[in-house]
Amino acid sequence: MNYPHSFDGQLPGENGIYYYPLLGSTNTEVRRLAEEGAPGGTVVLADAQSAGRGRRGRSWHSPPGKGIFFSILLRPPQTEPAAAAPITLVAAAAIARQLRDATGMQVAVKWPNDLLIGTKKLGGILTEARISGQGPLYLVLGVGLNINHRIEDFPVELRGRATSLHLESSLTFKRTALFLAILKGLRRDCRLFFETGFAPFQPLWKELSTTLGSTVELVRPGKAIRGKAVDLDPAGALLIEDDEGRCHRIICGEIV
Ligand code: BTN
Repeated sequence: MNYPHSFDGQLPGENGIYYYPLLGSTNTEVRRLAEEGAPGGTVVLADAQSAGRGRRGRSWHSPPGKGIFFSILLRPPQTEPAAAAPITLVAAAAIARQLRDATGMQVAVKWPNDLLIGTKKLGGILTEARISGQGPLYLVLGVGLNINHRIEDFPVELRGRATSLHLESSLTFKRTALFLAILKGLRRDCRLFFETGFAPFQPLWKELSTTLGSTVELVRPGKAIRGKAVDLDPAGALLIEDDEGRCHRIICGEIV
């Protein structure tokens, strides 16, 4: 298999990694492979996406030659769907840690799926699940990271809120090496999570978090909750104390 120079250097052609210069969405492709019976651990990486998807129906801007856009298929042994829910937190912490180790930059996590530098978004994770009667048949974990983007590579409306490793350092990064380091850490941590649950990841997530201690507004269908994010419990739920002193235990949603 030949890899174009736009994704710098050679990727290992084995190990269940499929590389495409351009795809609609790597999540969609992994779902297709999953339906065909692909094994857990299968990865699809794209240099660019024409229909990259973010959370809550948003699109994910994925220009060529700039980012790391990939999805991994996970087939968890658990039969209980709720047991797999904190996988997004595990992935965010794993990726933030790898990026910190590789670049020395202060990459942080924002509950539940954002990667930040300062207050700006460096990347995000989109987890999709196919649930059967017995539990999640499989999970697709999609990761989008802004690596070598210049400011003009972002749509105008994102320029105030998004950042890249390049914008934070003026350096140009070798995406292949970063991707392989991230994938190694992610595979290891997902395996550990399926064996042990979220508890071993709680201290790391708290250490990397910008969410705890800040005032947050939780957006979710029904009712918004405003308050202080006071803790993350061992199951990965966010604890928010509202202005009346009531504590809310949140397992899904989005904070602004
Ligand atoms: C978010 O923050 O809203 C999540 C963004 C996830 C984007 C990635 S890019 C690779 C994978 N394929 C997609 O279509 N989306 C995810």
